[in-house]
Amino acid sequence: MAFILAVTGSAVGLGNIWKFPYIAGQNGGGAFVLVYLLCVFVIGMPVMMSEILIGRRGRRNPVATMALLGEEEGHARHWQWVGAMGVIAGICILSYYSVVAGWTLAYVQKSLSGAFAGASPAEVRGIFEGFSGNLLQSSLVHTLFMGVTILVVARGVERGLEQAVKFMVPALLILMLVLLAYAINSGGFGAGLTFMFDPDWEALTIGAVLAAMGQAFFTLSLGMGALMAYGAYLPQETSITGTSAAVILADTVFAVLAGLVIFPLVFANGLNPSEGPGLVFGTLPLAFGRMQGGAFFAAVFFVLLSFAAWTSAIGLMEPAVAWLVERYHRTRAQAAVMVGGLIWLLGFGTVLSFNVLSQFRFLRGTVYDNVDWFTSNVMLPLGGMLITVFAAWVMCRNSSADELGGAGKLYRLWRFLARFVAPLAIAFIFLRTVGVLG
Ligand code: PHE
Repeated sequence: MAFILAVTGSAVGLGNIWKFPYIAGQNGGGAFVLVYLLCVFVIGMPVMMSEILIGRRGRRNPVATMALLGEEEGHARHWQWVGAMGVIAGICILSYYSVVAGWTLAYVQKSLSGAFAGASPAEVRGIFEGFSGNLLQSSLVHTLFMGVTILVVARGVERGLEQAVKFMVPALLILMLVLLAYAINSGGFGAGLTFMFDPDWEALTIGAVLAAMGQAFFTLSLGMGALMAYGAYLPQETSITGTSAAVILADTVFAVLAGLVIFPLVFANGLNPSEGPGLVFGTLPLAFGRMQGGAFFAAVFFVLLSFAAWTSAIGLMEPAVAWLVERYHRTRAQAAVMVGGLIWLLGFGTVLSFNVLSQFRFLRGTVYDNVDWFTSNVMLPLGGMLITVFAAWVMCRNSSADELGGAGKLYRLWRFLARFVAPLAIAFIFLRTVGVLG
């Protein structure tokens, strides 16, 4: 149970409530959402199982685990580079994740001050732009969030995490349902549903397919060793298949709920679904602002969302911290400060993307857009593909069957998906993206 909670805490976060709606909005909804769901179940499930089973088999940090298990199967230590890429991806992702988590922290205070009461769409948007556009304020909340994360990671995670998740997940679910009730009556529910589930396959670009796959990896915390690091603590008798299924289900419920709340608000208020990272911050306050006791609900909601972000942030830092502790014999506190300090510094790339450097664009857009695109759409799927290939091709049948509870029907299904379907699907989407397959 503790393990399911920890993995759920890592999976459910800003990825579900902040990122999924805005990425879905930017990619036209409908078809994107269905591809995303397909990726979650067909690719996400076997990759998650592979990652956890490797973690439990190796019982070390991701770098050492990949090196060790590779050696056991008679390979050189090169597989450790997959672990190393995960460490780097985690650091890069947390650098912007922390900035957005900082915004949610700030929104607790804004909610309590009554800033959203009866506010118009333009006013709510103005609040977001004013805040993310303010270099000092957004630096402060980013610093605050990283500080708290470093503190907790330094003190060893397990205990507090479990308690936090046990309370946070059900509470967040209840608030999402309150918001859903509001969205259903907002006058935009039909339009929101159509946008989310009515696919326009003609308009689906390969870029959107790649983004859907990247989002599946991101939201399930896959491809960078977080679940491998957690798997290292997993008791031998816990079912990896059952855990993965439960976590994927919970994560999907949160993402779909977020969409069902946000898109109706978008259409009821004549907003633009493709407006980007500010989407959640420009819509949810509208609902809270018109609700009985909205200031209170809003504050609780943003507290819970900050909590959810924080339980994910711990997972993002864990591979790097565990690696420093085991490889260089640092104390957890030293490792947390070193890794966290680096992440904090890198975070200014994102802080600045929304103010001073907002007009500085290259490749995919701002610094933030580039870090996000490259980590989610390239590093995580690539890492996930290599992890799955490792579990299903490099590790011998006995080891993986042993971890997955014997060689029954389910095992054969996993092996088929992990050997062929997941790696080929990922490779296919990559190759199409760079234009090799036309
Ligand atoms: N899954 C988390 C979210 O959806 C983000 C995350 C990615 C956490 C990778 C850990 C590892 O918010």
